Amino acid sequence: MNPYEAAQEAAQVVAKLTGADRHDAAVVLGSGWGEAAAQMGDVVAQAALADVPGIPPPTVVGHGGQLLSLDVRGVRVLVLAGRSHLYEGHPVETVVHGVRSAVFAGCETIVLTNAAGGIDPSVPVGTPVVLSDHLNLTGVSPMVGPEVPDGLPGRFVDLTDAYDAELRGFAHAVDPSLSEGVYAGLLGGAFETPAEIRMLRTIGADLVGMSTVLETIAARHLGARVLGISLVTNFAAGVSTEKLFHAEVLAAGAAARPRLVALLRGVLERLAPS
Ligand code: HPA
Repeated sequence: MNPYEAAQEAAQVVAKLTGADRHDAAVVLGSGWGEAAAQMGDVVAQAALADVPGIPPPTVVGHGGQLLSLDVRGVRVLVLAGRSHLYEGHPVETVVHGVRSAVFAGCETIVLTNAAGGIDPSVPVGTPVVLSDHLNLTGVSPMVGPEVPDGLPGRFVDLTDAYDAELRGFAHAVDPSLSEGVYAGLLGGAFETPAEIRMLRTIGADLVGMSTVLETIAARHLGARVLGISLVTNFAAGVSTEKLFHAEVLAAGAAARPRLVALLRGVLERLAPS
């Protein structure tokens, strides 16, 4: 089975697990965002993410591993509270499988959240930042591999508007103090060195993390629009004198939760047809 057929099959299981033929939008929750899941709307159905074929069980502390179906003022939202990363040893097609499945389940809007290291010292830890663009520095792409099957767009996806202008506008309308930044997505596995962070700043990155970019490419390829939001959970290496710990990433998420919930909820509500 090719990865697209696998995602189509997964979408059918999502429909069964949630009792909803289709969803309008999907939200992928990154490290520190997981607890926000149930507070964004009314929970209509809930399952383990690993019950969806092709989604492996999570291996990182703080990644919830839940699939939720929410009603947010009439907008049906699929929440993937947990994701697969390259640094866990998963292949690209596994990393993007959840997003592809969500698009095949009907989602025309994909909201990708993540925890990121802040490269810009003027953006405090605990601040959400809207992605304006990304640098895919993972060295891989979901568009590498055999020809895309007939009936789907070809591989050379236009990424000029990777992050949707209208969705970014919704985020700013909900939370006018939000800033925007360019996210550098790396393979990860370890945090960066200060020299790597200086390099990333030089090439135009404001944020650094280990996710999101491949999912954005996969979602854009299938025609969904994407909103990306990073939570700055720490200053990137060398930006401040403090050492980096995964626990710090989770704690920053907990402190910012009310703001993150209000932001996601506000954006999702604006997807309702007026
Ligand atoms: N670097 C890479 N990924 C991250 C970081 C970081 O500093 N913080 C949270 N995710």
